[in-house]
Amino acid sequence: MVQSSEIVPPKRTKEEMEEEGDEMSLMKKLGLYGGEVRLVDEGEDSAAEEMMLLWGLQQPALSKPNAFVSQSSLHLSLDACGHSLSILQSPSSLVAFFISSLNCLSPPPPPTVSLTFLLLLFFFLSLSLSIILVLQSTPGVTGSVMWDSGVVLAKFLEHAVDSGLLLLQGKKVVELGSGCGLVGCVATLLGAKVFLTDLPDRLRLLKKNIEANLRHVDLRGSALAKELTWGDVPDPELVQPLPHYVLGSDVIYSEGAVVELLETLQQLSGSETTIFLAGELRNDSVLEYFLEAAMKDFVVGRVGQKQWHPDYCSRRVVMYVMVRK
Ligand SMILES: C[S@@+](CC[C@H](N)C(=O)[O-])C[C@H]1O[C@@H](n2cnc3c(N)ncnc32)[C@H](O)[C@@H]1O
Repeated sequence: MVQSSEIVPPKRTKEEMEEEGDEMSLMKKLGLYGGEVRLVDEGEDSAAEEMMLLWGLQQPALSKPNAFVSQSSLHLSLDACGHSLSILQSPSSLVAFFISSLNCLSPPPPPTVSLTFLLLLFFFLSLSLSIILVLQSTPGVTGSVMWDSGVVLAKFLEHAVDSGLLLLQGKKVVELGSGCGLVGCVATLLGAKVFLTDLPDRLRLLKKNIEANLRHVDLRGSALAKELTWGDVPDPELVQPLPHYVLGSDVIYSEGAVVELLETLQQLSGSETTIFLAGELRNDSVLEYFLEAAMKDFVVGRVGQKQWHPDYCSRRVVMYVMVRK
């Protein structure tokens, strides 16, 4: 007989129990990461389903983009691994590109509001919008300022190491599209031997940040900036031996670069390599395209936000772990 003070759990239907069981069976550990991640199920529509689930769960449009960074500031200050990091940004690359694009095209203002003026206004508003869209997909420009997903990944690494779910001490790490270099610097502070890579014209700022943030620190790991253009043959130092970890934040943002990015991920990964990619939820079609292609060669799992650093979670960011099939 049930006492009135006892809490009786509501009876679950067979369907609910099956659903829960299915969900549990999707939780797995992948590679060198000790936390359980939700597998992106393999199947014809799995990438599209993942997008629906993700957008439904996180509703990225409802929260502020770039909550942890200010892209108009010259520095991003962040405490990590017992150090105060100051990551130099180059917002002028964004502004200069924008202003020069407008300057060379703007006509003198018309004296009165006429149809021509309205047409010109419409033309310039459309032009500004196009420039902003180009800026968002121009790799050389975007690597000069930080994005939230970089902060989230850097703090996740620190948290996962502190929680005993990840070991970076003495491990070889290659970071792709390092940009300003925060993630690679944090991995170095966590004891890894890190190669921070990017396009050739991004390396100056990257080297400055490595120098400024790691020069005076008694390092357990090491950091070296290297050129790596996705799809190109990597420097032998990057692949011999293959890294334990490959890291990337906000590197999935252009459909045109997905094939080359995956080619590089394949070149850099072996059976012992674990890949962590954090991305911004701004374009579902690019992410879906990436996942669809990635699942041919990699097992992909999503790291739930409960495993991220509690102070650095964002509805606009997603994180995946990948290992070779
Ligand atoms: C949006 S930024 C992200 C930078 C940094 N990871 C962060 O989170 O702040 C994308 C980075 O990928 C790099 N990138 C884009 N296309 C690339 C390519 N084809 N080869 C190598 N790096 C590329 C850019 O130079 C840039 O640094």
